[in-house]
Amino acid sequence: MFVAITRQVSAALAACELTHLERVPIDVDRARAQHRAYEQTLIAAGAMVHQLDADAAMPDGVFVEDTAIVLRELAIVARPGAESRRGETAAVEQALAAFRPITRIEAPGTIDGGDVLVAGRRVFVGLSTRTNDAALAQMRRILAPHGYTVCAAEVGGCLHLKSAVTALDECTLLIDPSLVNPSVFTGFACVEVDPSDASAANALRLPDRVIVAAAFPRTAARIEARGYRVARVEVDELAKAEGAVTCCSLIVDGTGQAREEGPAGRAGEGG
Ligand code: GLY
Repeated sequence: MFVAITRQVSAALAACELTHLERVPIDVDRARAQHRAYEQTLIAAGAMVHQLDADAAMPDGVFVEDTAIVLRELAIVARPGAESRRGETAAVEQALAAFRPITRIEAPGTIDGGDVLVAGRRVFVGLSTRTNDAALAQMRRILAPHGYTVCAAEVGGCLHLKSAVTALDECTLLIDPSLVNPSVFTGFACVEVDPSDASAANALRLPDRVIVAAAFPRTAARIEARGYRVARVEVDELAKAEGAVTCCSLIVDGTGQAREEGPAGRAGEGG
């Protein structure tokens, strides 16, 4: 059992931040249906989904990953790079406080959780339009006492580091070498996305399976061929808002060690 923090899709989703995509109409009801199916996929994988309420003032609120970085020892509340997103962190911090000691990235640092890739004791921080050197320095200071090594990775051509590379396990990465330089990730085994799948490097690692977007069947087949159990979800409506599968949850494992009474998780519900 693990906890997955999610947030309902805002009625204002169509007013989301966009960096690399053209704005196209978004069907909010369809995005909500896809989000509910995503939560059901988490539940089927053993998650207790803790769903936060939507807020019409937070178009991007569904992309909770960007608001925090959750490690076994602590949670780091982000300071999102887009000013419009800074109000998203309060509710997430409140939920995470039940499970982890909290620390925060402070100004002038800005960081989106989507720019932070954790694999074993190595943490990669993407330097992107959202994440800066000041936040990188704070991440190093916060994580060094816990035995993590923090490395920078330049991000270009996509929104976040985890648009370009995600972890399939502690030693294996799913990577799009057209978006990030693989030489940064020395010592890892790498599964490359199928070249015909644009934006396919974002996969969500869970204890016994990997969630991938159904839009990328060839990359999913490559992951399966390496022995991973794959769960596919339709997220194309959310993708119009520049979101992907990792963005829609914060995974809190080891939740048997809750620090105080945990939040009202909803195992068995879709939210
Ligand atoms: N629309 C997702 C983001 O830009 O943060």
